[in-house]
Amino acid sequence: MIYITRRERFSAAHRMFRQDWSDERNLEVFGKCSNPNWHGHNYILWVTVKGEQPENNSFVMNLNILKTIINEKVIEKLDHRNINLDVSFMKDKISSTENLAVAIWDELKPEIEKNGVLLHCVKIEETENNFIEYYG
Ligand code: NI
Repeated sequence: MIYITRRERFSAAHRMFRQDWSDERNLEVFGKCSNPNWHGHNYILWVTVKGEQPENNSFVMNLNILKTIINEKVIEKLDHRNINLDVSFMKDKISSTENLAVAIWDELKPEIEKNGVLLHCVKIEETENNFIEYYG
């Protein structure tokens, strides 16, 4: 099995909060990411696909196709947007990195797997000290 990873970046604003909680309770649970007037992160996204080496020894998956899928399905919808307000696949979800990874997985999986590979991992770095990985 061969694993291929494409790295992309996007910048986006968000606020983590529950509407049914006070600002104080949100601050207690979500910390600075619950600031009422939004804030941004420079996110890094890694998308890993896996597949067998094809018999003709060519690509497991053409990286140009992978790049195009990630850009159309994810980056164009997220980059320089507000995750809470602008991003259809994050509607009504708390804008945690965990929820973002699961939503990105769901966006990408059908398109990627039309190409004869399996989606293996979506990894997102929100700050250089924190990243999360989702394997489906
Ligand atoms: Ni934040």
